[in-house]
Amino acid sequence: MPYSHRFRVFENCDSASAQVAAEIAQLIRERAILGRHVVLGLPAGKTPVPLYEELIYLHREESLSLANVVTFNLDEYIGLPASHPGSFRAFMQRTFFDHVDIPAENIHFLSGNVSRAEATSHCADYEHKIAAAGGIDFQILGIGRNGHIGFNEPGCMADSRTRPVTLFDMTRRDTARWFPGIERVPNRALTMGCGTILEARRIAVLAWGSRKSRIVRRAIQGPVTADVPASYLQAHPGAIFYLNSSAAACLKSK
Ligand code: GLP
Repeated sequence: MPYSHRFRVFENCDSASAQVAAEIAQLIRERAILGRHVVLGLPAGKTPVPLYEELIYLHREESLSLANVVTFNLDEYIGLPASHPGSFRAFMQRTFFDHVDIPAENIHFLSGNVSRAEATSHCADYEHKIAAAGGIDFQILGIGRNGHIGFNEPGCMADSRTRPVTLFDMTRRDTARWFPGIERVPNRALTMGCGTILEARRIAVLAWGSRKSRIVRRAIQGPVTADVPASYLQAHPGAIFYLNSSAAACLKSK
């Protein structure tokens, strides 16, 4: 696939997010007419916030119902109860789920509270739930500065499945804003695998700002390598990066 098919550049994160929200809304409405549900894979983090805001706006102001939406979040810290403000569960609830009409039973999360002994079967069960829902129609992703997707850190395999992982220090530093200090950021997490993510029918990767520009270039135009897990997306015919101009600044034009 030519490079230019792998990304779209927008003036700012709001216009990029509005485009992705419009695509999601169209899918939701098309499926609603057929009486079918839509399965979304969702990320936490700062990047998707304008997307969630736009979907909330469409729900409130343009009568978009999300009643036929089923969600699977990408990842969760190990060792945090769902009620901890730093958990991705709590983040998603206050940022998105509290403001739309997705039925509670349609919302799925990996639990940060499982014991080491239970983690493997909990992750396998998550994969079964995704399969039972019909697979992920539309996966939204952010990207870490080291190229991680979900919590699939550099070195992970392209066919990795949902599993417990150890977080890199850069990842813990980058997410420390939700915690009183970096030492309080858990160093283990559960994440959907790269293989799980690559099975989604469509994938939108969102990235904003110059701090993501170098890794965006390596993900889109560099070699496919475990050093940059997001580069695995080059093999997916339906994966597109949605960028603002500063995140796209390092891309070669051809
Ligand atoms: C976190 C999440 C990822 C997210 C990434 C980028 O660690 N596990 O799913 O995409 O980091 O975060 P942000 O959007 O805040 O830059």
